[in-house]
Amino acid sequence: MTLKKVKGTYDVLPEESFRWQALEAKIRELMEHYYYKEMRTPIFEYKEVFHRQSEQSDMVQKETYDFFDRANREITLRPEGTAGIIRSYVENKRHANPDLEKVYYIGPNFRYERPQKGRYRQFYQFGVEAIGAENPGLDAELIVLAYDLIKKIGLRGAKVRINTLGDTKSRAAYKNALIEHFKPHQDTLCADCQNRLINNPLRILDCKIDAKHNAVLSAPSTQTHLTPESKAYFKAVLDHLDVCNVHYEINNRLVRGLDYYGHTVFEVEADIEGFGAQNVLCGGGRYQHLVKELGGPDISGIGFAFGMERLLSALESEGIELGKEIVLDAYVIKMNDKHTILASKIVNDLRNRKLIANLDYQNKSFKAQLKEALRHQAKFLIILGDDEVNQKMVALKNTKTEQQENVLIDQVGKIIKERLE
Ligand code: HAM
Repeated sequence: MTLKKVKGTYDVLPEESFRWQALEAKIRELMEHYYYKEMRTPIFEYKEVFHRQSEQSDMVQKETYDFFDRANREITLRPEGTAGIIRSYVENKRHANPDLEKVYYIGPNFRYERPQKGRYRQFYQFGVEAIGAENPGLDAELIVLAYDLIKKIGLRGAKVRINTLGDTKSRAAYKNALIEHFKPHQDTLCADCQNRLINNPLRILDCKIDAKHNAVLSAPSTQTHLTPESKAYFKAVLDHLDVCNVHYEINNRLVRGLDYYGHTVFEVEADIEGFGAQNVLCGGGRYQHLVKELGGPDISGIGFAFGMERLLSALESEGIELGKEIVLDAYVIKMNDKHTILASKIVNDLRNRKLIANLDYQNKSFKAQLKEALRHQAKFLIILGDDEVNQKMVALKNTKTEQQENVLIDQVGKIIKERLE
């Protein structure tokens, strides 16, 4: 029996990992410029970090991996990054620091979703959080950042959608308006939405089953109940975006899938032909009370997360290759086993000179070693033949020019290094 990977997971094979590394390198470079530092939190947390009274989203209610550890503690594999970051922020009393906390993370998350292209049960997110200020300029900074990443990696077919849910007062008024609106249609809504009507009517707008229901289509817009302060806040966010030349589209139906949002919410969508249904690359927004809910002071934060698989697949759809697979500078070929130790010595010398070098450990024939070297596009071949070695020499072949010459064993590393420079 062949063991199989768990449904909804995937392997990154050695020939593919350079794409991940190249994307991560771009992200890290960008984060340096915006002066955000990396934060690494555990992939599992106590259940209550994610399962909070106020979080009634499907994602947390139905899709988390929850289990008891061997000491009967309830643990949840993180379905997203934000709650763990805030848990750590509060636990480490980071709020006592006078500076704004600006952090990013790249790591795996787990959701028991129905797997399909762009939707996995283990997936990677690149996320950013700025905690400790409620300022429209900061909301805009995060959106500019997400937009900048898209531009820097060359994805032209992507667009930003933005909305505001308003402050606590606006949201309460909107919630009531939705309840009034949906009540007469309660019986015709799906079972989940009937519950949502009581717990969190905003979620109805996000329901996949009822998406085409007349009552959903005719629901009041998020804009109808905004307080003047919320309107002014949103306008200021847009003003910042305008001066930073971000192209965005306001979408008053955007509510997002998590319950902690207030004020600004946004998404980046891959508007790429043939990309498929899972085309939301990034989602984020402001969370006003999450820090308090997790035991900290009542301060606000904002963040977003990109799905790394979706970014990579968008790059692939657009034919963009950010990095290159590593190729060998040199491959050492032994004409016979007598030269095994010498081959090790030469490879070691090359590697110490920061050259990428390899050799055979599978007792391959001369021909098979040659084939391997060419398959991996080795720039130089170092051939150890009896006659040459007897004269303290090796044959050095440039695979591009096909030129071959004998050089001193002690000189070969230096010569290759010079020729490559
Ligand atoms: P989210 O919208 O749930 O937000 O996820 C963000 C992104 O993660 C999505 O836009 C998508 O690209 C990717 N993603 C989500 N689920 C999957 C999946 N099953 N397979 C592949 N990719 C997936 C959050 O997680 C929030 N924590 C974002 C945030 C940060 N808000 C404030 N700070």
